[in-house]
Amino acid sequence: MKAALLLVLTVWLNVQYGGCSFPSSCSYPPSKWCSSLDSAIQCGVLKQCLQSNFTKSHQAADQVEVGLYYESLCPGCRLFLTEMLLPTWVLLNDIMSITVVPYGNAQEKTVGGKYVFDCQHGDQECLGNMIEACLLNKTDAAIQIIYCMESSTDVIEAAKSCAELYFPELNWDSIMSCVKGDVGNQLMHQNALKTQALNPPHKYVPWITINGEHTEDLQNKAMTSLFSLVCSMYKGPKHPACGGSQRRYRSYSLNE
Ligand SMILES: *[C@@H]1O[C@H](CO)[C@@H](O)[C@H](O)[C@H]1NC(C)=O
Ligand SMILES: *[C@@H]1O[C@H](CO)[C@@H](O)[C@H](O)[C@H]1NC(C)=O
Repeated sequence: MKAALLLVLTVWLNVQYGGCSFPSSCSYPPSKWCSSLDSAIQCGVLKQCLQSNFTKSHQAADQVEVGLYYESLCPGCRLFLTEMLLPTWVLLNDIMSITVVPYGNAQEKTVGGKYVFDCQHGDQECLGNMIEACLLNKTDAAIQIIYCMESSTDVIEAAKSCAELYFPELNWDSIMSCVKGDVGNQLMHQNALKTQALNPPHKYVPWITINGEHTEDLQNKAMTSLFSLVCSMYKGPKHPACGGSQRRYRSYSLNE
């Protein structure tokens, strides 16, 4: 009698909790488990999702925001973008966010209801700024494509192949129609407004802001080592790349 009761109980428990497998009602792929409370409950990972969401929102709140106001053909801008900004972002992207605004020392005027731009390094620079503004509006991979362009010998010439390299699904014609059309015109106007709104007003490019603030001290530190600056300004737990709890990489000796 006792044994029969135990058996019934065991079978019931197995039906209720499905042994060790995920609840059979979980109909979401793993990447969607945390996408809503329902999916998290259904897939039996509510606790883990709440923890992971908390960590993420906590990190996002503390991220160091780096702003770069630049123009596409200025040598100092290209150097900063390719040798400071991108390498730092690759290592520290979970504790920093970047905003890049291609415009710099350009000038804007209105002719027949459209904005017309005059760039420090000529029409080619205006074209480069515009391509980059359109990329930033249309793809998540913009920063990698801009890095590729700015590190190439010919920034403009490289644009299409850089886009194909980093974002093969991108339709290049849609970028060029943005560049030549009203959307690009409006986007560049927005960049003009953002640049004109800088406080203090920018005096040179590249012009760097940290958490929206520009001082000579921050500029100098960013130009010397953006990496150290971001590590030192981040208020959260020390990032491993900044010397926090070390990751251990196993090395293999020759005779293994
Ligand atoms: C986790 O965060 C996302 C985005 O903020 C939200 O939509 C989702 O509902 C959250 N998941 C849980 C289980 O709280
Ligand atoms: C792209 O530009 C359009 C038009 O200005 C704007 O409505 C939209 O929010 C922009 N999207 C992004 C991702 O910046």
